[in-house]
Amino acid sequence: MDIQFVTPDAALGEKSALAIVVFEGEAATAQGGAFAAALVGGRFTGAKGQTLDLIAPAGSAAARVLLVGAGKADGFDGLGAENAAASAYGTLKTSGLTTLRVQLAGDAAQAAKAAFGVRLAAYRFDQYRTKEAAEKKPSLTRAEIVTTDVDGAIQAFADLAALADAIAFARDLVSEPPNVLYPAEFAKRVKQLEELGLEVEILGEAEMAKLGMGSLLGVGQGSVRESQLAILKWNGAADKNAQPVAFIGKRVCFDTGGISIKPADNMEHMKTDMGGAAAVSGLMHVLAARKAKVNAVGILGLVENMPDGNAQRPGDVVTSMSGQTIEIINTDAEGRLVLADAVWYCQQRFKPKFMVDLATLTGAIIIALGDDVGGLFSNNDELAANLMAASEGEAEPLWRMPLPAHYDKNIDSVIADMKNTGGRAGGSITAAMFIQRFVNGVPWAHLDIAGTAWKKPSTIPTIPDGATGFGVRLLNRMVADKYEG
Ligand code: BES
Ligand code: MN
Ligand code: ZN
Repeated sequence: MDIQFVTPDAALGEKSALAIVVFEGEAATAQGGAFAAALVGGRFTGAKGQTLDLIAPAGSAAARVLLVGAGKADGFDGLGAENAAASAYGTLKTSGLTTLRVQLAGDAAQAAKAAFGVRLAAYRFDQYRTKEAAEKKPSLTRAEIVTTDVDGAIQAFADLAALADAIAFARDLVSEPPNVLYPAEFAKRVKQLEELGLEVEILGEAEMAKLGMGSLLGVGQGSVRESQLAILKWNGAADKNAQPVAFIGKRVCFDTGGISIKPADNMEHMKTDMGGAAAVSGLMHVLAARKAKVNAVGILGLVENMPDGNAQRPGDVVTSMSGQTIEIINTDAEGRLVLADAVWYCQQRFKPKFMVDLATLTGAIIIALGDDVGGLFSNNDELAANLMAASEGEAEPLWRMPLPAHYDKNIDSVIADMKNTGGRAGGSITAAMFIQRFVNGVPWAHLDIAGTAWKKPSTIPTIPDGATGFGVRLLNRMVADKYEG
């Protein structure tokens, strides 16, 4: 998608659609009342989310005019601009027209946000389509965002374009099928991020065995694909030795459940059991691309959970890198086993300022919060507040969940230090508390994004059906607002 900022008087090219963003109650007076007559025949008021599609109205240079409701002028902000432009794109993407012009009243920053909205909405993963009908393919190839301050908008868009690239990178990593993106192949893809200036280390099974990562390695034991640990480093702070911030992601390239195998219905969805690592990869991508003034570490646990003659059994006891032993009750509760070693490794090696782990960890979080809201668990109020603030600013909603100390006994084992499941009740909480047993006093937060990593159908204009990239925006915002400089 070619994105340009143009001044209000720029001539419209052929095959252009003009999307006019109007505030609630102001549609009838927009463009000198040009649409007043058309409005009589419908219920368009300019409320948020509404659109009114007008084909070639008289006197219009555009082949099509789309009115996009932006809600009350009062609360209109960057997110409003982003969503309005994204829904204009969504409405017109297969219209047959090639250019979308978005006209909105607002400053350069809002114009940049509108461009960002179009970029996010235009994301598509179509690598594996070989014969899509022409009329189903998006026809829009160019977006023109109207602004009186072209230079200001270009400047404001630079960081947003980097963010959009990173979100697309994260979405791709989730969309790829599991036969293509197994652990070693995934490690190869993140290795390519070195081009942006990141340092990337990959550990294989032998190295992890030496480190004593019995918890992570047990998960991948039934897979013919080798488990990996990827370590991504960005040293952008003025003081190269400053304590880093750390992010840890679960990537189970495919989660069959292992010997505690999942039912066949919807099992294909478990190719997406990697939203956490995708988000961390996207975050590291954008930090490097915009040369963030921070030292940051990303750690990705890459495994495949398969049933096999060599697979881990329910009843097995494994020893984690921390030395704590774990009785496996259910081999399908594998994400926490991966995180246990990744989190421990992270704090031992990097002594981070804080750690945030992200994981598509439990079905229970979907029951609790649905698929629009992620679960936030934390041992630290300041870190939790920073995550909440960033989440609100970026429209990636989080809800803070409790960690009641007395639930911790639910994961006590009769024969080992702990067991890997705590029963159905409060399943997301006991999963978080399991990870917490591997946190050694460091400020820590856990985001359970099992619901938010994938959307179908999506109701959010900036998120096409499929992988969302959830987490990249909010983590990037939190780092930018609180931990840079
Ligand atoms: N990867 C799943 C969680 C999940 C479920 C992600 C639905 C995305 C959509 C996780 O590994 C899992 O299987 N969790 C089990 C835990 C249980 C066995 C304690 C679950 O939630 O059922
Ligand atoms: Mn599982
Ligand atoms: Zn899983």
